[in-house]
Amino acid sequence: AASDPDLVERARAAKEKLGDKVFVLGHHYQRDEVIQFADVTGDSFKLARDAAARPDAEYIVFCGVHFMAESADILTGDDQKVVLPDLAAGCSMADMATAEQVAECWDVLTEAGIAERVVPVSYMNSSADIKAFTGKHGGTICTSSNAERALNWAFEQGDKVLFLPDQHLGRNTAVRDLGMSLEDCVLYNPHKPNGGLTEQELRDAKMILWRGHCSVHGRFSLDSVRDVRERIPGVNVLVHPECKHEVVAAADYVGSTEYIIKALEAAPAGSKWAIGTELNLVQRLANRFAAEDKEIVFLDRTVCFCSTMNRIDLPHLVWALESLAEGNEVNRIQVDKETADFAQLALERMLALP
Ligand code: 13P
Ligand code: SF4
Repeated sequence: AASDPDLVERARAAKEKLGDKVFVLGHHYQRDEVIQFADVTGDSFKLARDAAARPDAEYIVFCGVHFMAESADILTGDDQKVVLPDLAAGCSMADMATAEQVAECWDVLTEAGIAERVVPVSYMNSSADIKAFTGKHGGTICTSSNAERALNWAFEQGDKVLFLPDQHLGRNTAVRDLGMSLEDCVLYNPHKPNGGLTEQELRDAKMILWRGHCSVHGRFSLDSVRDVRERIPGVNVLVHPECKHEVVAAADYVGSTEYIIKALEAAPAGSKWAIGTELNLVQRLANRFAAEDKEIVFLDRTVCFCSTMNRIDLPHLVWALESLAEGNEVNRIQVDKETADFAQLALERMLALP
């Protein structure tokens, strides 16, 4: 839908008034009405790397979800203030691993006598507390665009990985990219005593996967892939690695949002694509590439937007920009120093991956 012209004008005017004082970052899953005001758009890796690109900007307005704003705060100077236009823009996957649960899991691994051989690898989609835990225990952060490199690095440091919180990214990367078998992976359920695993299972496993998932990508199914192949003969199925293993195994291509965009840019005219990722991005790509005669459809029409990404809408962005322009520092995201220091260690290990 077209954005309200009055709100568009207000956002433009507030941004102009702020000038170089504000730097607006937008994740690919954001609404069009918001993304049009982003100075930089990207996947979560690119946004983490670019957050510090404008050290003179007093405010970083993060159009994305809470864990991304926390990471931007950790990776930028103390005098830069990160603002999340709606504080309710969380991530259900990140919420699936709490600091208490992860500390308990580490006790279970210690009890089983394997903790010193385990390297934690945490997906960017996790709270600052989980990133700090990861940094403290010698691990790294990864995103969907560098998970393979992160796991290879981790297996040079130890012989087991605790992968948090997305079981699917962990499993897909271990099996597809590192050549492990499904039996090398076990699922740690934080709601069961000892994660629902025996000490023997923990000792035998190479990958200990946290039982978390994305509520959007987790809804694509093998039937979604079968149906689209039947409906559109010759279609290329391209999915995000947060999808279930069976979906990834049935797809033609797998990659992060940035990878998906590049694949479609390189695709020949006349090609057909079914994309399994968040709907705002798929709709934007379908519109963008229609003119080049590339047919792009959503992998499963029953799956909907990421509801928390969508919380950042134009009214919230206008409110945040106008407040900042009037000198009111609203919705600041600030990670406490001790957590930030350990989390930064883990994030910097990721940024230094070869
Ligand atoms: P990427 O930006 O790494 O592709 O991750 C997708 C996602 O789910 C972000 O919330
Ligand atoms: Fe979280 Fe999934 Fe939404 Fe990304 S798409 S913010 S992982 S719920």
